[in-house]
Parts: sequence; structure tokens; C-alpha cells
Amino acid sequence: MSLASTRPFASRRVLLGVTGGIASYKSAWLARLLTKAGAAVDVVMTRAATEFVGPVTFEALTGRPVHTGLFDAGRALEHVTLARAADAIVVAPATADFLARAASGQADDLLTACLLAATCPVLLVPAMNDRMWAHPQTQRNVHHLGTLGYRVLPPDEGMLAAGEGSGPGRMPEPETIFAHAGRLLETPGPLAGLRVAVTAGPTREALDPVRFLSNHSSGKMGAAIAAAAWRRGADVDLIAGPLAVAPPVGPRVTAVETTADMADAVRRALATADLLVMAAAPADFTPAAVAPSKIKKGSRPPTVALDFTVDILASTRDARRPGAVIVGFALETDDVMAHARAKLEAKELDLIVVNDATEEGAGFAVDTNRVTLLDRAGGSEALPLMPKSEVADAILDRVEGLLGGR
Ligand SMILES: Cc1cc2nc3c(=O)[nH]c(=O)nc-3n(C[C@H](O)[C@H](O)[C@H](O)COP(=O)(O)O)c2cc1C
Repeated sequence: MSLASTRPFASRRVLLGVTGGIASYKSAWLARLLTKAGAAVDVVMTRAATEFVGPVTFEALTGRPVHTGLFDAGRALEHVTLARAADAIVVAPATADFLARAASGQADDLLTACLLAATCPVLLVPAMNDRMWAHPQTQRNVHHLGTLGYRVLPPDEGMLAAGEGSGPGRMPEPETIFAHAGRLLETPGPLAGLRVAVTAGPTREALDPVRFLSNHSSGKMGAAIAAAAWRRGADVDLIAGPLAVAPPVGPRVTAVETTADMADAVRRALATADLLVMAAAPADFTPAAVAPSKIKKGSRPPTVALDFTVDILASTRDARRPGAVIVGFALETDDVMAHARAKLEAKELDLIVVNDATEEGAGFAVDTNRVTLLDRAGGSEALPLMPKSEVADAILDRVEGLLGGR
């Protein structure tokens, strides 16, 4: 197995309901993503859904039988057994018709019957024409389903079926639904419902209107931590410099450019944060003066005087709420542990994540990292080389331990 691939849904069972909407072709990819992540995926299709995509497509992608009928011979009571076995139910797409039937408690086909027989969390992903979505009947049904405890992922705005133009009603992309399924499958732990702020990526300090000082940070580690905290049920603010990766689904993203911008955003986030994770690599130096126009090549190379940028952790220390957990990162190239422990003490951190920039497979830009976690009590835990998504979970496991002790 490649170190960059993980199976976060291993041993989880997902019932994927597919109803008769044009977006059902995207559900095949969702079934693939869930299966690839290790989940056992039981696909239940409405009769209308089978007009759009053949059950054999889902059967081939999940490696499991696809269920279509309430009265199929040899499969009596499947509505109860499938519903009981599921750790989560995702209905994508959910048609207007299905939402109406679910909202009124009908059980006239296998999927609606499964919904009534289920006790696990349910995510409904409506997709339809924009006028169908805006209709008060649909809106009332969606609202009512929300009050019953079903989670509803609202449709995106965008191109609808051919000739229908664009508007709200389009099913979110499978990767987005997949991320929401991850949050649905999570057993609530100490981070559920907490406010978490995560910084990620580099910052940029302008030299002139077209040039800047920065570093090689990709933001992958911070993005992975924000994604994992959101999956664990936290309300996450991701404060991001220019990222080399797509921001994760779920967290609110505040895009910043300079170290001073990042410090301002961190100060604002600290007003409500229960946890701050500083995974960014802010630029430490800034040109003493920004040239108002592009610096010309001229005959001699220019000399650039540098100032220190603001120290984010030090300058925002007074904004921390009592009891908030603060996690820093230290990327060092020499005397790694001594420097990191000094930073832990000086910046009054609860935990510091140390990586050695000179080590292969660790640090900037790569998909993996090898870190050591140092805590205030003198504890030290060296983790093996792992995908950054797993490093993120290991860090959050430690943080949850610290939160539990407060
Ligand atoms: C070509 C075509 C596309 C359709 N697309 C949608 C759609 O995107 N969303 C929707 O709510 N209904 C859509 N419908 C209507 C549903 O298929 C219809 O309401 C059906 O009864 C839904 O059954 P089900 O909810 O049991 O799957 C479409 C119908 C056709 C013929």
C-alpha cells in the first residue's frame, strides 16, 4: 500500500440510496470513493433510479449486490437488515419526490422503508431543477426532514441538466459528499462542537508589485488537520496563506497573504477558539520597504533590507481564552529537539509538533511526514513516517487527551 493512501472508512458500512435524478450518474463515483476508503457500501436504488444508471454499475464498483425492490424474492425483510447494518445512510441524489415521501413517513419502496427502520445518522443530498428546489413544497419537506434529525446537504448553484441553464439545484460533487459522509460516520468525541482554528501554508511579503519573499510550504499539513478536526465534528476556521492544495470541504476558509494578515486573523479566531493549531509557515522576514513599482534590473543587483515580521504566537498570546489548547509546529534543520522544546516553553504551547526539514519524506510539500510530539509535561512521542492525514489524526488524538484533562 502506498503511504499516501489510507482507508479511513475500513470496517464501516454505508447504505447509499440512489433515487431517480439526473445526477445519479455522479453517485457511481461516490460509491467508488466510499469503497476505496474501505467502507462496505450497500446500494439501494429506487425504481426510477434504475432508469438512469444500471444496478450493475454499482455492483461492479462496490463488489456487493445492489438492492432495488421491497418484494424481491429471497430478500424479504431487507429493509430491516440493511438499515440495522448501516453505520450511516447517504441518499444522493435525493429527488423532490423522494424528499416528499420521506417527509411524510411513507415506506412504499425499499429505500423509504430503510429510512424508517434506521437508527443511524442520515445525510440527504437533494438535487433537482432550480424551480423544483425553490418550490415551497420542497422547501417545507426539507425543513421538516431537518427537524426530524436528518442532515441535509443543500444543492450547489451551477449548470443544471441540458437546456435548463444554471441555478441552485445541482448536486454537490462526490468528493464533497464523501467528506460529509466522513463526518457522519465519526463517533462524537471531545472535539465535537468545539471551535478550532488552524493556520496553513506560507505567507508572502511583497518586495515590489510583482515579487515577494515566501517559502516552500504547501499547506498540506494544515489542510489535513483542518479536515480531520471538521470530520471529528468541530467548527473549524482555516486561516490559509496561498495553498498549493484545494482547501478541504467543511472548514470556513479565511485567505490571507502576509504574516501580519495571518496574525490579525488568528487574533480574531482566538476570541472563540477552544483549540488553535499553528501549522502555517509564516514568512519570518519582510522587506523594510516595498518598492512602489517593479524593481528594474539596472546595472547592479539591488540590496534588500529586511525586517522581522510579527511573531504570531507571541503577539496574540493575550487573545487566548482561558483553557484553550495551543499547538505549534517547529520545522528545524539542526539541533531539532532542543530548539523545539525551547519554542514550546517560550511560546507557552501545550503541544509542539516537530519535524526535521532535512529528512526525506517529511516537512514541506510532500504527502507524508515524520513528526515527534512534545508536550508541556516533558512527554515526547516519536511517530513513524505516515501520510499527513494520519499525522493529523495522531495530533488530534493527543489534543483530545489534553482537552479531556481540562
Ligand atoms: C430525464 C429526467 C430527469 C429527472 N431529473 C430529476 C432530478 O434531477 N431531480 C428530481 O427531483 N427529479 C427528477 N426527475 C423526476 C423523477 O425521476 C421522478 O419524480 C421520479 O418519480 C422519482 O422517483 P424516486 O424518487 O422514487 O427515485 C427526472 C425525470 C426525468 C424523466
